[in-house]
Amino acid sequence: MARKRHVPPVPEELPPCDGPKLPLFEHHNSKIEWLERLGDGEETSHEGYVFRVKIKRAEYAIKVGLQFKFYDPMESEYFWEPLIGDVSLNTAAYYTDPFYAECRAYGRIREATKKRPKISDAATRCYGFLFLSDRDQRYLEGKKCDLGLEEVDLAYQRQTPGGVRPRAIVKSLASSDHGITELNLRKILDRIHMLNRERIYNMDIRLDNIRDGKLVDFGSSWTEPHKLLDALDAGTSYSYRTTDRAMFDEMVVDESLPNPKHIVAMHFMTLRPRYN
Ligand SMILES: Nc1ncnc2c1ncn2[C@@H]1O[C@H](COP(=O)(O)OP(=O)(O)OP(=O)(O)O)[C@@H](O)[C@H]1O
Ligand SMILES: [Mg+2]
Repeated sequence: MARKRHVPPVPEELPPCDGPKLPLFEHHNSKIEWLERLGDGEETSHEGYVFRVKIKRAEYAIKVGLQFKFYDPMESEYFWEPLIGDVSLNTAAYYTDPFYAECRAYGRIREATKKRPKISDAATRCYGFLFLSDRDQRYLEGKKCDLGLEEVDLAYQRQTPGGVRPRAIVKSLASSDHGITELNLRKILDRIHMLNRERIYNMDIRLDNIRDGKLVDFGSSWTEPHKLLDALDAGTSYSYRTTDRAMFDEMVVDESLPNPKHIVAMHFMTLRPRYN
């Protein structure tokens, strides 16, 4: 008699490590009506997969992401192993997988919103994560989204929280405009400071990742407590913690954003590490 395949239960929140967690999307069992692909990604390109969808008559953006659906921490072992050494692959993934990076950042934003409601203006709202059904997978494959099912290391994926299921994150739908003007440039920098004060470091401050003046992509973010950040030497961790400010300044210059008030994030003094 064929043995029934073990399918782990759907987790209520992720990731199961120290620090903030994102809950499962409340309508995770409802049908997803896929409407269109968002962003600049051509259907054949390797940009992240973000779609406008309808779930229970409301519209959302669903990020299936490029590395989102499945992630193999062995691919980034060269980076994490020298820092945190002999940890389980699941632990390595909690701190290097872009999907968990979003879960942890949005988890912290949700917690922080209770004390400081203004922080919700810093990021496009996130409603939770979900796992894609077979029907959703067939739809995406029809749209030439490579879900990477052929390359998945099944032995590893089976023992991850959630098992062999492609993962996605549900956010509110923003416009296609970055929404930065000379009038709100200061506010956008203040929002980045607010996130950094909550120990969320986005690490990917670019025009493409800002929609309607809010950050939309936390796939590269680090949120403390963070095992890798803790393992870095003081100078390097300082530069990680100030990356968002440095990237903000670069973005303003590289994109020639109007800045009549000469707003800068990295003042001369902050360029000097203050770690001793
Ligand atoms: N909630 C949203 N509303 C409208 N457009 C969005 C939304 N989320 C993403 N987009 C569009 O899709 C593009 C890709 O999304 P995102 O930046 O999150 O993915 P990515 O860069 O591929 O992610 P990662 O770096 O984690 O692999 C964005 O640049 C933006 O244009
Ligand atoms: Mg992006």
